[in-house]
Amino acid sequence: MITVVKSEPVLLAIETSCDETAVAILRGNELLASEVASQAEHEAYGGVVPEVASRNHLLHAPRLLELALQKSGIALKHVDAFAATSGPGLASSLMIGASMAKGLALGVGRPYLAINHLEGHLLSPFFEGDFLIEPNVSLIVSGGHTLLVEVRGVSDYRILGRTVDDAAGEAFDKVAKLLGLGYPGGPEIEKRAAAGNGARFDFPRSMLDSGDYNFSFSGLKTAVRYRLADFQKEQGTPELVNDMCASFQRAVVEVLVKKTLRAAKEGGAKLVTLSGGVSCNEALRKEMAERGREAGLRLLTAPPRLCTDNAAMIAFAASLRFQAGSHSEVTEEIDPNLALV
Ligand code: KG4
Ligand code: ZN
Repeated sequence: MITVVKSEPVLLAIETSCDETAVAILRGNELLASEVASQAEHEAYGGVVPEVASRNHLLHAPRLLELALQKSGIALKHVDAFAATSGPGLASSLMIGASMAKGLALGVGRPYLAINHLEGHLLSPFFEGDFLIEPNVSLIVSGGHTLLVEVRGVSDYRILGRTVDDAAGEAFDKVAKLLGLGYPGGPEIEKRAAAGNGARFDFPRSMLDSGDYNFSFSGLKTAVRYRLADFQKEQGTPELVNDMCASFQRAVVEVLVKKTLRAAKEGGAKLVTLSGGVSCNEALRKEMAERGREAGLRLLTAPPRLCTDNAAMIAFAASLRFQAGSHSEVTEEIDPNLALV
């Protein structure tokens, strides 16, 4: 267990790895500001368009910086370190936040910290506690990643498993598109699923008994497409869409929960953590908590506003690293494929 000494360093973090522009200011463990601008423009394309995303980051980031400084009452000269997400993500998006944080660090004469987006998600469940990172088995489920990680402490990670094809959030987004729902698909599917019958369609639970901790979601998406084709006349009716959403969500949740809890039990963990955009999903949170409790495991999740992309989680990860005495060179480049370990 790693105990972080509490002092009151002020961290300013910028997150621009995909289509959310975010700026946060953290003093000690007090979040003074956390501004996020989501880009609705991508809905029309059913996915993120990199050039549109980076142009929007350029537009929003300076405005959010001003807002965060104003709300926190912090002047730039009082910031102890500047951080930005340096990967993984879209290169043209990452560059905007990283360049801005580096410029600020150089201008104010403070250290710069390059933060891994996945580490931001991974540590976010501890954000509202007392900054004490306990060993755990962590499931990160987002639009770009599905990772099962053994966490022994800050920076001490071992990958247990990952998706071999689509990420869980990507499956939600693709299935939503198939069903004519908006982007991002996760919240839309969750809403429809609440009114649907999850037992109507028996969608595949891929790799449930594969004997490892990997996941696969592309077959599930294809199964939804084929099953949909069987209902030409019913297509678009609320009942069919709701039942498809509920059955799809049930299949995803079952695989995520069973494999995570199996990894935790087999690894002797006492704590499971859940993070990333898909962890906003109430059905997933509830099932993981209930099945976990039955297995004698505690579950820690971040509040929903810290599950989808935000800069507070980047500031938090940066703060832990900063207090442990580490920082990055301003020459450090962004890396779209940056690995967690
Ligand atoms: O962590 P995040 O904001 O961005 C990435 O790092 O990818 O995750 C976004 C993903 C999207 O695929 C979105 O559909 C999914 O999280 N998501 C959800 C829910 N809210 C967001 N998936 C299922 N249920 C939700 N309520
Ligand atoms: Zn993310």
